[in-house]
Amino acid sequence: MTQTPPKRGAAAKQGLARNTANYGDPDFALYLRRSFAKSMGYSQAMLDRPVVGIVDTGSAYNNCHRTMPELIEAVKRGVLAAGGLPMPFPTISLCEPSLFPTSMHYRNLAALDTEAMLTAQPMDAAVLVGGCDKTVPAQLMAAVSADIPAVQLVTGPMLATPFQGERLSACTDCRRYWAAYRAGRVSNERIAEIEGRLATTAGTCGVMGTASTMACLAETLGMVPLGHGSIPAVHADRLRAAEDAGALAVRLIANPIRPSQIITAASIENALRVLLALGGSTNALIHLTAIAGRRGVRIDLRTLNELSDSTPVLVDLKPTGEGYMEDFHAAGGMPALLWELRDLLHLDPIDVTGVSLEQRLVEPAFVDRRYIRARAEPVSPVGGIVALFGSLAPRGAILKRSAATPSLFETEARVMVFDGLADLADRIDDPELDVTADDILLLKNAGSLTPAGMPEAGYLPIPSKLARAGVKDMVRMSDCRMSGTAFGTIVLHITPEAAAGGPLGLVETGDRIRLSVKDRSLDLLVPQAELDRRRARWSPPAKPPRGWDRLIADQVLQADEGCDLAVLRAGG
Ligand code: FES
Repeated sequence: MTQTPPKRGAAAKQGLARNTANYGDPDFALYLRRSFAKSMGYSQAMLDRPVVGIVDTGSAYNNCHRTMPELIEAVKRGVLAAGGLPMPFPTISLCEPSLFPTSMHYRNLAALDTEAMLTAQPMDAAVLVGGCDKTVPAQLMAAVSADIPAVQLVTGPMLATPFQGERLSACTDCRRYWAAYRAGRVSNERIAEIEGRLATTAGTCGVMGTASTMACLAETLGMVPLGHGSIPAVHADRLRAAEDAGALAVRLIANPIRPSQIITAASIENALRVLLALGGSTNALIHLTAIAGRRGVRIDLRTLNELSDSTPVLVDLKPTGEGYMEDFHAAGGMPALLWELRDLLHLDPIDVTGVSLEQRLVEPAFVDRRYIRARAEPVSPVGGIVALFGSLAPRGAILKRSAATPSLFETEARVMVFDGLADLADRIDDPELDVTADDILLLKNAGSLTPAGMPEAGYLPIPSKLARAGVKDMVRMSDCRMSGTAFGTIVLHITPEAAAGGPLGLVETGDRIRLSVKDRSLDLLVPQAELDRRRARWSPPAKPPRGWDRLIADQVLQADEGCDLAVLRAGG
């Protein structure tokens, strides 16, 4: 085997020559790096190739990323065939049900980890492989901040499972069956049997939840090649998409297109439109706001309302409709949806291939209208999410109207307050709880500043005594989030949160609140003098003494700023 001496000065600064460690002698640093790389058995010819870093978020704790090993192998194949050197490396992996207190508490940590490794290690381009709810936004936030050429590859959605005349998939059906179990309509035996039928293949949740919404938004932004976001996790096309992502990353080295060229104010507005047309997850609004914040673009919730009033819901999937992600993909997927929306979109943004949206869109040969409606026959003539403002939410709150009960849109009612998650768990099923179906349930002290970490607890359970009496929906509100797979008349992300001193922290049981979707308003009907008295008694919660929790308490922003850490946004 011939030995090639290291190139002095590493003038090209490509591949392994990038970002040499600081020993005060860059030539020695590269010499050392190459000699250590050779211990892994690479030939000199391989080490001379441009490097594609591959972000590997495989984990035994992450069922949604179960296919990661074969996806990584396929990406490597694509990189090698195109002339690059593939270098997979691990980063934090976040799986929704596996994390305490909630995966949201760690999204920014994953983004920070990913950004640090993208910038610290030598690579000329990257493939970001993720799928479960927080991994895709974390990777996109990191890609924007690192701003190296990158392609996003999602793991893809799971398949629904045929079961006794219906189809089941995580996790709308999980919630539907659990609500029926709480109401006494499903037996212990049946709920145990269903547990093994809800998620039977690899992949992310099979409905238009947060993971699927984020995959569609990544496709709209242009970080995922058009048509690749919704391919089922277990389909052979998913592996071909992985191989393609590897080859594309190598092409990006010769013709660099950086995330800052792809993620722009125009592509972000397109993504907001698509979020509304999907009837997508409310969580995606927080993630998109955080991604935009990394780019210095602010998402204004009042602009969201304007977009919502002029964007129809066209996609009919669970949790609001009946279809699953495999139906959406077979129906035409994002190419069909974007074609349908084309007159509402900015057509100049480019994607990772360097091609404008206008050039990428072609009239689809086939669209299954059961799942992707024509503009003339929308699921709803207006968008799925609206923002609310008022004395209870000075900086805004949101409601997913496409998943709510229209008869509850205009509600003024007495409120039952739960002071945090422990209080909610202690009292919600108390037979003596003084609550009726006409009341509003309100949870406070569960926002991003609290140890609860803004969990998906906004889907407050219907008190069991009401559920057993047949009540299926009530107005519920909080400073936390809701799973993208959930449904109901649920006001979320009330900002500022209670722990930040927002009016939400002053609400007491027996107060009255007025919700008006028509007026986009949310008001606490308590005299100012009484609120002043309550505020005088209020004090902020104690901060955790150390560690990541302390960094969050010091740095995390509110929902209208994407819950990013202040120091990680564009400009710090
Ligand atoms: Fe991972 Fe739903 S739990 S996508």
